[in-house]
Amino acid sequence: MAINNKGLRVILGTGGTIAGKASRPGDNVGYVAGQVRVEDLLAGVPALEGLPLEVEQVAQIDSKDMNFGLWKRLLERLVHHLSREDVSGVVVTHGTDTLEETAWFVQSVLRPVKPVVFTCAMRPATALVPDGPQNLLDAVTVAGQADVHGTVVVCAGQVHAAQHVAKVHSYRVDAFDSGDAGPLACVEEGQLRWFHRPPAASPTEVRDNGLLEWVLAATELPSVQIVTSHADTDGALVRALLLAGDADPSLLPRGIVVASTGNGTVHLDLGQALNEAMARNVRVVRATRCARGRVIPDPSNPMPDSAGLSPVKARITLALSLLADAAGRP
Ligand code: SIN
Repeated sequence: MAINNKGLRVILGTGGTIAGKASRPGDNVGYVAGQVRVEDLLAGVPALEGLPLEVEQVAQIDSKDMNFGLWKRLLERLVHHLSREDVSGVVVTHGTDTLEETAWFVQSVLRPVKPVVFTCAMRPATALVPDGPQNLLDAVTVAGQADVHGTVVVCAGQVHAAQHVAKVHSYRVDAFDSGDAGPLACVEEGQLRWFHRPPAASPTEVRDNGLLEWVLAATELPSVQIVTSHADTDGALVRALLLAGDADPSLLPRGIVVASTGNGTVHLDLGQALNEAMARNVRVVRATRCARGRVIPDPSNPMPDSAGLSPVKARITLALSLLADAAGRP
């Protein structure tokens, strides 16, 4: 097999199922995520032997518990390693559950030139046939490619852009999909086969160069909540947030993303409550709750669309935009 072996790659471990352990061998669901150290994950992939690799354990969590503090720590380690001349790329092992959020956060804040390759597994390290070792091998291959730039996700032989990737299956090993955009490439026996190259820059990215500095200086992201528009809903949740803000202004969310129906439509009563929120200077963005497609831009709608981002990624982009505004973005 032709494994790309150019340049030093750093593997940052953060936990997840790829590092999960079950007490019963072969149990694919009754396991605890984030147990196996990243150096031990590497030791389980003989094809990586002899490659120039460094490892660092940044965290050891189930990614459902990911938080801003760990995102900052990961950013700091990424900045450190990416600025090293001898490093060609970085791999991050991560749980699948919030992987697309961390990948989008990293892409939005760093917009790295070198590859930052997130990888994962749907089966724990103790599975009869774990998927982690192949994903790790593929991720190391991708992180060594001079023609890969920015943050990508490698899973089940596919390479996805951070902007489009989403976890779409709760159990299957090919759990990730890039919707209408499709995967960027696939990895076949250590070779990358491109389908299309990522765009040079995303229109949704926060463009202020000071973003990294502001993120690292912040103790938390501005609060942005997600609400879903669905049949038989009402504005109670949003009004409860506004009421909490009346009692204590620090509890008023700075933004709300509505996971709207179809092409950005919102239940009448929820829409009224969101208008009340906007009248209180809460920024509201409409994403779609559909697995595919986007909210088509409509300049006449006072609630802007999410520029194709899913609700969880729109939440990150809105929070970063609010942070930049608070820091006095020109
Ligand atoms: C996690 O996200 O940490 C657990 C689930 C997974 O990695 O598949």
